[in-house]
Amino acid sequence: MVVTGAEGQVGREIVLMARERKLAVVALSRAQLDIGNPESVSTAIASATPDLIVNCAAFTDVDRSETERVQAERGNRDGPAHVASAAAASGALIVHLSTDFVFDGKSSHPYSEEAEPNPISYYGRTKLEGERLVMAAAGKHLVVRTSWIYGHGRRNFVTAIATQALEHKPVRVVSDQAGSPTYARDLAAAIFSLLEAGARGIVNFGNAGECTRHEYALEIVRLLGCAGEVGVEPIASESLKQAAKRPAYSVLDCARYRRLTGLEPRPWQSALLDYLIQEFPERFAAAAAAR
Ligand SMILES: NC(=O)c1ccc[n+]([C@@H]2O[C@H](COP(=O)([O-])OP(=O)(O)OC[C@H]3O[C@@H](n4cnc5c(N)ncnc54)[C@H](OP(=O)(O)O)[C@@H]3O)[C@@H](O)[C@H]2O)c1
Repeated sequence: MVVTGAEGQVGREIVLMARERKLAVVALSRAQLDIGNPESVSTAIASATPDLIVNCAAFTDVDRSETERVQAERGNRDGPAHVASAAAASGALIVHLSTDFVFDGKSSHPYSEEAEPNPISYYGRTKLEGERLVMAAAGKHLVVRTSWIYGHGRRNFVTAIATQALEHKPVRVVSDQAGSPTYARDLAAAIFSLLEAGARGIVNFGNAGECTRHEYALEIVRLLGCAGEVGVEPIASESLKQAAKRPAYSVLDCARYRRLTGLEPRPWQSALLDYLIQEFPERFAAAAAAR
């Protein structure tokens, strides 16, 4: 199999899990393959002759996507189209990752795969165009939409909040955006389960449950044992003056995933605890020793 964006949060977990399963993996970081370059993509795929390509490459900076539009289009729209056409030409299945940010957030209940997308950011728009081009490339495809990812090896919402909390700095977090935090490791395992189930088309996956970003931050601080030491102030999105708008509500309905695999995504709080134990082992070592 080929993994693009292999050094991203999800890419690295897919590569690790594939190696654990003794699968032959060609792991391509951005430096090794820019998916925005069609010639490089077709050369890489033609030489690897994979039966499976997992496209984890994407331009994921939501705010920078508003101003660095060429980069966003390259990583999220044109790149996936190049990977999908190379996959179709070689008969490989492409697994492509997409996002809850294809929705406008006006719903008050979880978005199913059939819900009408209506992105409110340039990132969301390019991701929607990318998933449509992947599906139009006429090859075997699985598009996995997911949300609020955190994983190892890169700064993310969890490490940002945790670092501030551990430095006893007060935290200000928006309380008017709700979603489902999802551990990249759980997502990678879900992708392998979907592959085993022969899933095709669009499938949603996220850890179970939902929260606002403020509730998410409170849980990070609580699990790290800093509750009471660090203030976590709820604020409005409006006050952050971010370049991109975010959906107010972007929980994904994962019923199709459960039906296809027979598996229940675990609660986001339990996945978050596992992640924190790995990222901040010193915070948990004393408690473990006392048990
Ligand atoms: N992160 C989230 O909260 C989130 C939520 C929902 C869906 N998703 C989707 O899930 C997927 C994986 O996200 P992630 O969190 O693992 O993202 P990530 O950590 O940002 O990883 C993406 C990787 O793609 C690389 N990349 C960017 N442009 C590229 C290009 N033109 N060619 C090749 N590689 C390129 C990046 O390299 P550089 O680091 O050098 O830029 C990075 O290594 C993406 O499709 C994303 O849209 C993410």
